[in-house]
Amino acid sequence: MAVRPFIVGNWKMNGTRAMLSEVRAIDRASQRLMKVEVALAPPFTLIHAAHKEVEQIGVGAQDCHSGDGGASTGDVSAAMVLDAGAKFVILGHSERRQGHDETNAVVRTKAASALAAGLRIILCCGESEAVRDAGKAEAFVLSQLSESLPDGLQNASEMLTIAYEPIWAIGTGRTPTVEEIGAMHRAIRALIVDSYGEEQAQGVRILYGGSVKPDNALELLSDDEVGGALVGGASLSAESFLGIVLAAAEIPD
Ligand code: 13P
Repeated sequence: MAVRPFIVGNWKMNGTRAMLSEVRAIDRASQRLMKVEVALAPPFTLIHAAHKEVEQIGVGAQDCHSGDGGASTGDVSAAMVLDAGAKFVILGHSERRQGHDETNAVVRTKAASALAAGLRIILCCGESEAVRDAGKAEAFVLSQLSESLPDGLQNASEMLTIAYEPIWAIGTGRTPTVEEIGAMHRAIRALIVDSYGEEQAQGVRILYGGSVKPDNALELLSDDEVGGALVGGASLSAESFLGIVLAAAEIPD
């Protein structure tokens, strides 16, 4: 792994204040594992409380609206999550693309708003099983990403992270091979170089997500192009999430 590994927990629609003890445990242990950058994206309702608990790890949001504010019942703007303590936002997760009809154009607008508010973004992409079986995974992911990436981003290396999450690997216990992940990440890297130039692209981490667990993390993170992991189910307990962080710490520079 050429860059500082980034391990991010996506709590999805899980977590009440009772789970702040997990946040604390993850934060305290991460203070001894500085080689790894660790972050958690709890639901909106816990962002502020989680932010108050942590000293070391980053806290972020799982989504934000593209607008600045106004008559949009139930939505939360980028400025609001920033105000609550979020440093980054996950955008374009497949569960939002599928469950909330988020198109690439919507994701791109959200990305622009988040960046304008000062949030770092983790932009998700990934193909369905049918697309992979048809041999079109790379073409699909590259077109999804190129249509979702914000224009004119000057400091991509600092502000942008990509998460490659094949839909068929999310919550299923199935994963691509290390070779398949490496090949996809290299294709994504080439697109980032084209979009933002070689120098900025070097610092952009490309995370893998989909059934990452403590016992497969070392292997899944072993390709040089894998800059870390976006973790769902296994991020809900400090014990399993820290197992993944420990695996990331073991990978030679
Ligand atoms: P799982 O780790 O539960 O497969 O979820 C992955 C994911 O969707 C993270 O965003």
